[in-house]
Amino acid sequence: MKKKVLLMGASGSGKTSMRSVIFSNNPASLTSRLGATIDVEQNLVRFLGDLVLNLWDCGGQDSFMDSYLSTQRATIFQNVGVLIYVFDVESREMSKDLEYYRDCLEALRKYSPDAVVFLLVHKMDLVRNQKGPILERKTKDLRDNSGDTPITVFGTSIYDESLYKAWSRIVHSLIPNAAVLTKHLKIFAEACSATEVILFERTTFLVIATSHETAAPPTTANGTTTTDLTSEDTGDPHQLDPTRYERTSELIKAFKHSCSRMREEFRSLDMELPDYTAVLDELTKNTYIMVVVHDPTIETAAIKINIRLAREKFE
Ligand code: GTP
Repeated sequence: MKKKVLLMGASGSGKTSMRSVIFSNNPASLTSRLGATIDVEQNLVRFLGDLVLNLWDCGGQDSFMDSYLSTQRATIFQNVGVLIYVFDVESREMSKDLEYYRDCLEALRKYSPDAVVFLLVHKMDLVRNQKGPILERKTKDLRDNSGDTPITVFGTSIYDESLYKAWSRIVHSLIPNAAVLTKHLKIFAEACSATEVILFERTTFLVIATSHETAAPPTTANGTTTTDLTSEDTGDPHQLDPTRYERTSELIKAFKHSCSRMREEFRSLDMELPDYTAVLDELTKNTYIMVVVHDPTIETAAIKINIRLAREKFE
């Protein structure tokens, strides 16, 4: 049986909304119409060939939480690969939220000790000032409540690219051959003289892998908060924007949505800008590839031919 991805957190923290934006391609503005989740909604999301996410969206009302932690304890917490726990940044009941979180973590340690834990401090768009310090403070609270369990924390909102960053990292952690994919993308990038090559999943447009070292954050033994590497840190001569992956995901998703409203199908995109050329095209039946080239002598058509020639290798 496929390992589960548990999506948990208090009622109204935004679990179903993020699921509908990422996996059902609904615009964020429509999420206010979603009703509360009753008990657990199980979804099998086919992601990449054999990779299927067995996503369990657990309704967060107290009566359901109590039942997950008592009668349904073994059913819910067994065979979990990833726990994603969502906290509303503006929650007025943070101590109760943390109590439920600690209880869930205890059950997880017992039934699925190897599960990876991601914590999302959600609805960050509601924070007007001091986003950074507030996220830092919340992260510290969460770490203090996580004991020895390593955690990765993200600040997220359905209204910007931060949601794509978090979910891309989550999905990346679930891909068994991510390192092999990165290696092949590196070879391909070198063959095309590309600065960078990025692989996206077709429906969600989440980033699966890139030709750069790793799309996943460094993990420390005692819990991790993701910090963006700046181009100075990476010694990158092209000053690539550290938020480029998630911003591309968000923009293309919005563009695809506009295409579908015009009853058109999104196929590919070429951008020829003064500094660089970028080509986004289908690679396999489940993926899109983006090739970014800073060498002005390389023609877009040549990049496209290379993508066509690489298809068979990646299928
Ligand atoms: P249960 O199903 O009861 O467990 O709740 P849930 O966690 O699934 O919450 P849901 O997704 O239904 O979201 C509750 C409300 O939060 C909706 O009105 C969403 O529009 C809103 N919401 C979700 N994400 C965000 C966000 O990032 N920012 C803001 N401002 N509102 C959000």
